[in-house]
Amino acid sequence: MSANASFLIHHPRLILYFNKPSTSILHLRQNLSLRHLPQSLNPSIYSSFSVALFRSCRFSRPSFSLNPRKLSSSSSSSSSYSTTASAEPPSLSSNDNGGGGRSGALSSPPVIEVPQKIDVNPPKGTRDFPPEDMRLRSWLFQNFREVSRLFGFEEVDFPVLESEALFVRKAGEEIRDQLYNFKDRGNRRVALRPELTPSLARLVIQKGKSVSLPLKWFAIGQCWRYERMTRGRRREHYQWNMDIIGVPEVTAEAELISSIVTFFKRLGITASDVGFKVSSRKVLQEVLRCYSIPENMFGKVCIIIDKIEKIPIEEIKGELVSVGISEAAIEELLQVLSVKSLDKLEEILGDAGDAVKDLKQLFSLAEKFGYSDWIQFDASVVRGLAYYTGIVFEGFDREGKLRAICGGGRYDQLLSTFGGDDIPACGFGFGDAVIVELIKEKGLLPELSHEVENIVCPLDKELQGAAATVATILRQKGQSVDLVLENKPLKWVFKRAARINAGRLILVGNSEWQKGMVGVKILSTGEQYEIKLDELE
Ligand code: HAM
Repeated sequence: MSANASFLIHHPRLILYFNKPSTSILHLRQNLSLRHLPQSLNPSIYSSFSVALFRSCRFSRPSFSLNPRKLSSSSSSSSSYSTTASAEPPSLSSNDNGGGGRSGALSSPPVIEVPQKIDVNPPKGTRDFPPEDMRLRSWLFQNFREVSRLFGFEEVDFPVLESEALFVRKAGEEIRDQLYNFKDRGNRRVALRPELTPSLARLVIQKGKSVSLPLKWFAIGQCWRYERMTRGRRREHYQWNMDIIGVPEVTAEAELISSIVTFFKRLGITASDVGFKVSSRKVLQEVLRCYSIPENMFGKVCIIIDKIEKIPIEEIKGELVSVGISEAAIEELLQVLSVKSLDKLEEILGDAGDAVKDLKQLFSLAEKFGYSDWIQFDASVVRGLAYYTGIVFEGFDREGKLRAICGGGRYDQLLSTFGGDDIPACGFGFGDAVIVELIKEKGLLPELSHEVENIVCPLDKELQGAAATVATILRQKGQSVDLVLENKPLKWVFKRAARINAGRLILVGNSEWQKGMVGVKILSTGEQYEIKLDELE
């Protein structure tokens, strides 16, 4: 390449023009393409060149490699509900294609004029849902919906894209560092929601006095967190949430836990498979109050304590000291956190405060609801979100193999921190990933197959229209129909009928059609008959 050579690199988000390669990089018009590159240059040179430049320019990494070898789509996509880290799609190039990072302002996508192979894997940490996985997801969501219905909840939804401000809280939560956030084309800071609760709070505030309390709302939505991928944790997951707004009583928490127990039971999961660890943030609050630690430290302390099982205890102590908690208060906090029985807690805190009172009421209600054997007191549960103010709970698998299955609690001040009225609220989030791992472990995965009631097949090409009429009549009667759209031999039709688990084969043949009739074969029994079209049910 001569010293004055100039060339172009196309990228889905960027077009680079290299005048003297080391000096000028310009965004270009979009009607130019790789065919403007000097023929003598091997594509792999462009690839490494572009990667180096992307690195040095701190641009978003290219989402494809120009190296044809690396463009090969040979790697197979992992199952949507395979949540092990090893199931991650391999990255495309030496750079981690799916890693993302924060993107800057957007330019229009370029028009690519050269045919190219795309990476067939979804971005790292995300999933496709081919039919077999979608069936499982739909089954799971149906169970979420049915349980919510049994408890009298109404379904709501919010946008996946929200204003970033909704998720930026002060307490240093992990969820904030995991935010997928960026500026949109109008220069607004936005984020893909990492959870549903702030959106719910926003909607409740927006509705204001037009809704009457209590609200019992549920939602099933996709959430995004830039997580380190482990079993049951992905960068995109669905959460089932149930929230009760406007009830200050512990009856609300008891009702919510009851709904999760109902869900587990529907799936065949028992109290020996799963339990709930329950505590109250008021336990910590009471300890902090004894040491005259200001209320506004509370959220921060909870977030630090929540990491107790993830980082060494000395680090926890160090963090607590750095936010101004005294050594004596830390010792007392750690002692209280190790308590696993309500009686012992009462010994330490006395029975005057709300913490013990609330927890006792919850355990008493659990008896009435009939799920005492599912719940246990564990003071170490504080949960990683700053907004909880009272009872908190987490569903866990008793074998200890999986991450938290679900979690929730009371958040009486979230609405007022967003500028709304002080309205008591509590709820939970239940992810779609860990539960699938659990039912796989327990052998409780349902057998879900594609099923169609009828397969309708014309026996020759001219009868395609007649077959369409038959299919339409059946569909109008509420029957599902797979219509054979091409002229296929019967052997092929039988094979397809077996694959889609069709109940009946409806054959549209010339002589029958002349008489206004069709042939029917019941595929489970082999029974065959002819029937008038208007008698076909
Ligand atoms: P959370 O504990 O952060 O709470 O998440 C709730 C549940 O969502 C977890 O227990 C887990 O099942 C699932 N989950 C969370 N992150 C991931 C991930 N990266 N991959 C797969 N599953 C995940 C909340 O989000 C609260 N907003 C829940 C709530 C609702 N509290 C009151 N109302």
